[in-house]
Amino acid sequence: MIRNIFVSLLVLVLLSGCSGSPESGKKAAIIYPGTLADSGMVVSAHPESSKIGVEVMRKGGNAVDAAVATEFALAVCYPEAGNIGGGGFMLFRSADGRTDMIDYRETAPALATASMYLDNEGKVIDGLSTDTHLSSGVPGTVDGMLNIHSKYGVLLFRDVIQPAIDLARKGFPVTSGQASDLNNYRELFLDRNISRPAFVKDSPWKCGDTLKQADLALTLERIRDFGREGFYSSRTAGLITKEMKRGRGLITLKDLSDYRSAFRDPLTTDYKGYKIISSSPPSGGGIILFQGLGMIEPYSLREMGFHSLSAVHLIAEAERRAFADRAEYLGDPDIMTVPYDRLIDKKYLLQRMKDFSPDSASLSSHVGPGTPMAVTSEETTHYSVVDPHGNAVAATTTLNGTFGSCIVVDSAGFLMNNQMDDFSLKPGFPNMYGLVGGETNSVRAGKRMLSSMTPVIIEKEGTLFLVAGSPGGSTIPTTLLQVIVNVIDFGMDLKSAIDTGRFHHQWYPDIILYERNGIDTAEVEKLVKMGHEMKIRGSIGRVNAIHILPDGRRSGGADRRGNNSAIGY
Ligand code: DON
Repeated sequence: MIRNIFVSLLVLVLLSGCSGSPESGKKAAIIYPGTLADSGMVVSAHPESSKIGVEVMRKGGNAVDAAVATEFALAVCYPEAGNIGGGGFMLFRSADGRTDMIDYRETAPALATASMYLDNEGKVIDGLSTDTHLSSGVPGTVDGMLNIHSKYGVLLFRDVIQPAIDLARKGFPVTSGQASDLNNYRELFLDRNISRPAFVKDSPWKCGDTLKQADLALTLERIRDFGREGFYSSRTAGLITKEMKRGRGLITLKDLSDYRSAFRDPLTTDYKGYKIISSSPPSGGGIILFQGLGMIEPYSLREMGFHSLSAVHLIAEAERRAFADRAEYLGDPDIMTVPYDRLIDKKYLLQRMKDFSPDSASLSSHVGPGTPMAVTSEETTHYSVVDPHGNAVAATTTLNGTFGSCIVVDSAGFLMNNQMDDFSLKPGFPNMYGLVGGETNSVRAGKRMLSSMTPVIIEKEGTLFLVAGSPGGSTIPTTLLQVIVNVIDFGMDLKSAIDTGRFHHQWYPDIILYERNGIDTAEVEKLVKMGHEMKIRGSIGRVNAIHILPDGRRSGGADRRGNNSAIGY
């Protein structure tokens, strides 16, 4: 009896996300409740959004209904990255194997120019692309959700968005991580807004305090009642443009009414007999992931050993080369030709690794972009959904930085993105994730900025095997690469594959970043001797994934990094 009470209390504590700091490391040993399910499952960054997605499926909704409900719920209960003022990429695979992707990435306003973030001497003005009204692209989330829902949803849109409206109005308990995020950003919220946003209160936030968002509830109701018009014209659009004028931002009514999300073909490749499906440009995530996998495929990671010197070295060298290609070849496919097929061609990738030495580190200054044959191109959130029929959704959505620009549209209650920083502001100038780029990703009116978001769906012998994705800016595709090889090459169960340590290389800076205790000290020392610069950093990625077990059950992997939540039934 006492033991049962203790277990119930533990479950309650875990569901509320009040069990300690997300980075405390103590959570590594926690077995998340609800990670095994027979029918439907949602794994997302917050218990409330996972719960809402599952409830929608219990009412007869499919994976897309649940995903749209989860996305709007995240806009309420995970304002760090969930949004209606940002954008993302959603990958869909139907139970019978058809795939699709909706690109709801933001676009540059019509008044944007290549030099808008530069001073008279051509230097990048600090903070303009990240901290001001000028940092926002035209939001894509609302149009993306409406479009994917009208193509695949089976419930009424109003029933799918309603739980988020209720959540905004009634409020929800903030998790431990959120309490500290909200306290850390208090001054920025006060500084950048004329009215005090719901995210600010007199006393410091504590885990379990209720966050209510009345203005946001009204904005969501306008979307429920008027669809696209409820956001891209009429009152909400008026509030966005008024907010822009206050801070000399560029987004106009015309930019809003011109915005269109786009269905695009996802990219596919195969890796050791598995079919991998992921995002196509304007996200570079899928291509980096596929290039990385293609470059390491000829080697036996299993023989090398998990996080061994040879395995870390091999993966880092593949990542280095993939990111060098990103800077040269990737950009908005509506504006340029991206040579996808050639970049992920296995013969090209073999050739790309020709100068790879198993014994010493390459230098990024010597590793330029490759020449694909006959060339003629930190806060986000990911959720994964599988419904009882086996339809699957992997969606990654973002405001870019934590809480985006920290600018709340006055009286509309939602945060604007600072996604313009994902453009290459000037050739070779690093963005907030240290990524460099050139002309292919320069700022231009109406253009989509290059992303690293990498929603992934994997099939094994034609059946659904894994649904996954992560936040983490440039570390997103390398995080996914490691989770995939941990499952496929090292045979780990999903939760261990996610929770174990990670590392990252992105060409420039020419460093292998790794999580504290992520790689054994002895291996780190050997990597340094080999010529790699090694640097510890905070956590890398937060993967929310679902693995379909051989008996058909869904196994949810909610990353120990954060207050993520896997719920199924
Ligand atoms: O689209 C991108 O690649 C970035 N804006 C994503 C930002 C991100 O993942 C931040 N998360 N930690």
